[in-house]
Amino acid sequence: MDKFVIRGGNPLLGTVRVSGAKNAALPAMAAALLTEEPVTLENVPQVRDIETTRRLLAAMGADVELGYGRAQHRTTICCRSLASPEASYELVKTMRASTLVLGPLVARCGTARVSLPGGCAIGARPIDLHIKGLERLGAKINQEHGYVEASAKRLRGAEIIFDKVTVTGTEDVMMAATLAEGTTVMENCACEPEVADLADLLTKMGARIEGAGTSTIRVHGVSKLHGAKHRIIPDRIEAGTFIIAGAITGGDLNVAGCEPTHLSVLLQKLGEVGLKVAHHGDSVRVLSEGNLKASDIATEEYPGFPTDMQAQYMALATQAAGTSVITENIFENRFMHAQELVRMGANIKIEGRRAVVRGKSPLSAAAVLASDLRASASLVIAALVAEGETIIDRVYHIDRGYEHIEEKLRSVGAQIRRIGEMLPKKIAAPLVKA
Ligand code: EPZ
Repeated sequence: MDKFVIRGGNPLLGTVRVSGAKNAALPAMAAALLTEEPVTLENVPQVRDIETTRRLLAAMGADVELGYGRAQHRTTICCRSLASPEASYELVKTMRASTLVLGPLVARCGTARVSLPGGCAIGARPIDLHIKGLERLGAKINQEHGYVEASAKRLRGAEIIFDKVTVTGTEDVMMAATLAEGTTVMENCACEPEVADLADLLTKMGARIEGAGTSTIRVHGVSKLHGAKHRIIPDRIEAGTFIIAGAITGGDLNVAGCEPTHLSVLLQKLGEVGLKVAHHGDSVRVLSEGNLKASDIATEEYPGFPTDMQAQYMALATQAAGTSVITENIFENRFMHAQELVRMGANIKIEGRRAVVRGKSPLSAAAVLASDLRASASLVIAALVAEGETIIDRVYHIDRGYEHIEEKLRSVGAQIRRIGEMLPKKIAAPLVKA
């Protein structure tokens, strides 16, 4: 298994470019299931979860082409015929976002068989709200042997109020509603930019959607969707990760190719911590003169502080003078990184859904273990300021959502290298017929 070896101490200087958003590309690839015509996506990040989705769609009978060379961030998906509308446990267990195919499959094929995702390092993460939403649209849902089996002649528009704000639940049901008979009104929806980006693609495919990006989404069903071309939005979490890496190393870093308006709550918080943050066009510049001040955060649904930035912020808080209280409101078990940071010398106490971080604590290198995608990002950030050489194990977690992170960090001065079997430069595979 690959590991990262990081020698701390170098300030990050220069410009690093952000890739497309994993959490926008995954639902966009699932949306291609809604039409028999080709859907071309640009700015698709080269991360492991995209490869898993390619395999998932190909197993159903889709033609999936991941671009090469200059076209390496382009993907063309054609779901002319879907021989087996099924998402197997083998694939779903490696990536829970695979459940995003449930809504599109039952809407397009009238039947779907999708493995239940099972537990996850950061929480139970059930999909009951996806199922409830599809049942409201008239799908017959049966659960047995670890699979959800859904069927419907044609879905019917309905009123749906989500008990809880769910990002992929909103996306899954919104996709299904595009081919339903009549109008669907969804309330208490997720407002994440990735939801609005998906609605943007669906509208290019001929869907009729209003209010995406707000808590009320209205979908007027149509009988058929067609092909489209769409550019995926930048990854705000990758951008936030680099901004915090620049901040903690006392650097002067320009994070380019991002959408600053998607980062407002983070940039505001970093200002309170004492960092100089400025944004211009598609770039954010972060300048740190040291003397970071402690400040509390509580994770919320968008536009609140993103849970996917909580771990990275915790690493930063270990270098801030004073006590920062971090409250995790979205997932019940998202402090796995805390004990690894403590191994590096941080002072963190976990009290249920609160982490109390006392700083500033000088960090020293240690062998640490990544437990999930964002936890691994926080360990990389901590290692960039730790005394000595840190070894981070199980970096396959980080490859799921960050494109060539070690190369990007090295390009702005970090001392980081990957050891173990090299991740193949191109995870892309030629056009395959299932
Ligand atoms: C999306 O996950 C993201 N993943 C996650 O990013 C992100 O952490 C999360 O939204 C919150 O922002 C993708 O977009 C692929 P939720 P999702 O449904 O949709 C509960 C990363 O690091 N819930 O909004 O699965 C759930 O348990 C990943 O890139 C139910 O109870 O999250 C959680 O407590 C990690 N029943 C809360 O709602 C349901 O049916 C929010 O989860 C669905 C969710």
